[in-house]
Amino acid sequence: MRLQLLMTRLLTICFAATLAAGCSRDAAPPADGSAGAPAATDQAEMTTAAEHDEYSYAEPDKVRTEDLALQLDVDFDNRQLTGTATYTLDWLDEDATQLVLDTRDLSIEKVVGERSDGRWEDLEYELADADENLGSKLTIEAPQRSSRIRVTYATSPDASGLQWLTPAMTEGGETPFMFSQSQQIHARSWVPVQDTTRVRFTYTANVTAPDDVMVLMSADNDPDAARDGTYSFEMPQPIPSYLLAIAAGDLVFEPISERAGVWAEPAAVEAAVAEFADTEKMIQVTEELYGPYRWGRYDLLILPPSFPYGGMENPRLSFITPTVIVGDQSLVALIAHELAHSWSGNLVTFSTSNDAWLNEGITSYVENRIVEELYGKARADMENVIGRNELAVEFEEIDPSLQRLALKPGTLDDPDGSSSATVYTKGAWFMQFLEQRFGRETFDAFLRGYFDHFAFQSIPTTKFIEYTKAHLLEPNPGIVSAAELEEWIYEPGIPDNAPQTDSPRFNAVDTARAAWLDDGTVPAQSLTSEWTTQEWVHFLEGMPETLSIEQLDALDDAYGFTGTPNGELAQRWYPLAVRSGYTQANDAIAEFLVDIGRRKLIMPTYAALVQTPEGLQLAEETFAEARPGYHPITTGSVEAVIAEAKQAPAQ
Ligand code: BES
Ligand code: ZN
Repeated sequence: MRLQLLMTRLLTICFAATLAAGCSRDAAPPADGSAGAPAATDQAEMTTAAEHDEYSYAEPDKVRTEDLALQLDVDFDNRQLTGTATYTLDWLDEDATQLVLDTRDLSIEKVVGERSDGRWEDLEYELADADENLGSKLTIEAPQRSSRIRVTYATSPDASGLQWLTPAMTEGGETPFMFSQSQQIHARSWVPVQDTTRVRFTYTANVTAPDDVMVLMSADNDPDAARDGTYSFEMPQPIPSYLLAIAAGDLVFEPISERAGVWAEPAAVEAAVAEFADTEKMIQVTEELYGPYRWGRYDLLILPPSFPYGGMENPRLSFITPTVIVGDQSLVALIAHELAHSWSGNLVTFSTSNDAWLNEGITSYVENRIVEELYGKARADMENVIGRNELAVEFEEIDPSLQRLALKPGTLDDPDGSSSATVYTKGAWFMQFLEQRFGRETFDAFLRGYFDHFAFQSIPTTKFIEYTKAHLLEPNPGIVSAAELEEWIYEPGIPDNAPQTDSPRFNAVDTARAAWLDDGTVPAQSLTSEWTTQEWVHFLEGMPETLSIEQLDALDDAYGFTGTPNGELAQRWYPLAVRSGYTQANDAIAEFLVDIGRRKLIMPTYAALVQTPEGLQLAEETFAEARPGYHPITTGSVEAVIAEAKQAPAQ
């Protein structure tokens, strides 16, 4: 099969690593030349490394935040959050007298500490110069080792973890909108915080906003809350900083079940409830597999199309792109994914971004199990094949050091670069390998035990290995060796023992595509009327690198790809159109790039455009128009692709 389209997509994943950090390094061999070093050495190295989170200045072995109390005002006019953060601290190291916090572009106004007599006194602090990736280290002098410290601060209008939308950029057009995206290390741009998963804390918040604006957080949102401009929240379960989340706008609630529902702008809520009607069933299926859902409510917040991701697993309130609302529930695996994080990620959390596969890989595996349970094996298999094709392309492009599940410290400058097909799909494939070898019954019980054992903890990959050896490999001897386990985790590529998936439904698509390429017979309506998004995706992904204008016209006549409301099709069709010189699609392309800010959907088209001078011009013009509506994360990615193209102009 031709994987040209996927190739373009992969390139964009690399560029998309904000400021291209991870991938610009990829071209160089690993500094120590040891991508394929023996697993034993790797493990020792990783254990030491796990003691330190290279993406945070915090010193959690000295002092830890146990609770965070926020007092915030949402100021739309100045695109600012202002207020205070109060930390309840556990001073672990008896010699420690400094609290080090992560910040990015914050103005710090004042720091006070509570004395033993209950009075608050000013504390000295130093805000260091900003590091491009990590932000500014805030060092607070606390000679009394105050058990509570309070920082008064304001965010920057350009905070990397917040997006501010004017009323005109919303569905309703009347109320402004604001939302956060903290993962990986953007929480520090809206709260001074120990921004490392090694610290978990409970939190409360009192938030004020204009009267007509509803505020939600990754906490105990009350579906019946009065919309009056003052809101309070409590998150009684300890969470890492990347799960801090806030959103504000004209948001209304509709229930799906007793414990699940949708928050969205009024015009969007009905379609979302219909699309995500299976959410309660998804919770039940996951509970049957892995034990009770431990977070109380599970609600979905539908964001504006500028949300840079598909979804974000903010506890109790997953943030969801509206681009998966396509009318036929074909893209609801996204909900299964974000829900699955309530076990893999939010309950058992990776301890640094180098172990991101523990979150995303195990979650992608659980996601696929939920999809299989609710929508059948054929659909789950199709989703697997799409993911694995993408992974194959990624492996052709990226350095072996990035093909490991557990990354070595120093591999990425910017932890946003850890999001790749390796982490998601190789991680899920590894779980599928274990499931296949041990059988579902044994493996399901094992995974459930793993979630229970490490609940509310952050762990490095070495802990996963230790636990898996003790609770899966050793009690079931002779099934998987330690060397096989370590090969999956520490070696590049996919081991030969990986289980393969055949999709008869995709085989039918391949046949139909081949016939069309051969003699121009478009696949019959009787066949395509049965196709779901997954088949259409596969149909497009197997196309040659370019088609003739006549061929593209014929496909458009038959299926109307240009202007499709389905972003999964658009993200594959438009790059093909661009590469083929199908300029009739340019207006629709520009509209798509202006309307949607979800990185994964739009980056392949930008990447295709910048390959030619005319395309680059269209990309730049469109970006200029789209930019005010883009999230800072998306803006960074598009800027990087355009800058790269200008540096090395297309031949
Ligand atoms: N936690 C991620 C989103 C994320 C990852 C944000 C890394 C920042 C850094 C979320 O659960 C996720 O994986 N979203 C995917 C969707 C999923 C179905 C693969 C996305 O947004 O594409
Ligand atoms: Zn995820």
